[in-house]
Amino acid sequence: MTKTYTVRSVEETWQAAAEVAKLLKPGTVVALHGDLGAGKTTFVQGLGFALGLHRPVTSPTFTVCTEYQTPGFKLVHMDLYRLTGPDDLLAIGYPEYLETGAVVAIEWPERAGDLIPPDALHVRFSLTDEPETRVIEVSAAE
Ligand SMILES: Nc1ncnc2c1ncn2[C@@H]1O[C@H](COP(=O)(O)OP(=O)(O)OP(=O)(O)O)[C@@H](O)[C@H]1O
Ligand SMILES: [Mg+2]
Repeated sequence: MTKTYTVRSVEETWQAAAEVAKLLKPGTVVALHGDLGAGKTTFVQGLGFALGLHRPVTSPTFTVCTEYQTPGFKLVHMDLYRLTGPDDLLAIGYPEYLETGAVVAIEWPERAGDLIPPDALHVRFSLTDEPETRVIEVSAAE
């Protein structure tokens, strides 16, 4: 399944995230691809809101990993930009998060190598010529 959204504001990015939030189940990995400033963190903020979080999702750029308890499951937000390789991901407890049924949203998933499972949901963000317009492509296995 592939679905493409053309969004023209942060609010529209949140609306797309709210649709994607309905696809999430415990153990889902959401791999967020796209350049600096493409809207990955903004999208996770939209996921958090749609999942019923009361506190805002902040960028984990400096913390690498932040966890939030939603009513359904734990949402774990990772930014791997500063990681050097997949071993670091093991050190921050990635396998345990998946085993315990968290949803793990990962910015810069390329750094995780083959630790991104085959059934991950992939979300690709592209900038456009318009400053606030982004193209968001969501694809799931099968
Ligand atoms: N349609 C849009 N969707 C998302 N963000 C937008 C949009 N239009 C403008 N923006 C702005 O673009 C920026 C996106 O930043 P964000 O932190 O979400 O990017 P990122 O992909 O997480 O970057 P990084 O790789 O540096 O973590 C924000 O400042 C946001 O206000
Ligand atoms: Mg970010």
